[in-house]
Amino acid sequence: KYEAVIFDLDGVICHTDKYHFAAWKCLADKLGVYFDEQINNRLRGVSRMESLEIVLENFSGKLTEQQKLQYSNQKNEIYCDLLKNMDSSDLSIEVKQTLDQLRRRGYLLAIGSSSKNAGFILKQIGLENYFDAISDGNNITKSKPDPEVFLMAAKFVNKAAEMCLVVEDAKAGIEAARKGGMDCAAIGDAVNCNMADYNLSKFSDILGICE
Ligand code: BG6
Ligand code: MG
Repeated sequence: KYEAVIFDLDGVICHTDKYHFAAWKCLADKLGVYFDEQINNRLRGVSRMESLEIVLENFSGKLTEQQKLQYSNQKNEIYCDLLKNMDSSDLSIEVKQTLDQLRRRGYLLAIGSSSKNAGFILKQIGLENYFDAISDGNNITKSKPDPEVFLMAAKFVNKAAEMCLVVEDAKAGIEAARKGGMDCAAIGDAVNCNMADYNLSKFSDILGICE
């Protein structure tokens, strides 16, 4: 049924949540804004600037666009420093073996991520040059739930939307896939939104869908 699989990166291929959390918490503390894991979960799949807006919901003052840009840059610097802690051990054997198996079965494999750091993260975990295409925060103008990032990924692998399966851990990502006319499989938190075509209890369950 499918010819390509488009994977979200953060929360699907690897786990960067704790680094996002630590970096946003650092910024929030500096601004005197309350921030917790629950708020952090709302940032999944959302672009950096939109994430900042969510973090600032509890901020009473007013910031100029330039200040917002400065703060989002500060968060990113802290985040990138933390990403240096990642290495090939942050890619699970299950994920790697599943990807390899999909490839053997003839599927094209792509990344569809809102992150502008996708390339760096892939390099850290040893998957630089592994995927057939990477569509990320650097080649889009609208972030998930807009379908742009997935439509671009499909275009990069030269497949129609109906031929692509999206794998996502965020509600925003599931919405994006659906809007783009793609079937989607939810993993992790996204399972709870009950909007996906498939719910995965583990990554390797994809092999049951893409036979
Ligand atoms: C997504 C994450 O993959 O990338 C979001 O789920 C994050 O939490 C977004 O805000 C943007 O990431 P970056 O690396 O460009 O700041
Ligand atoms: Mg994600």
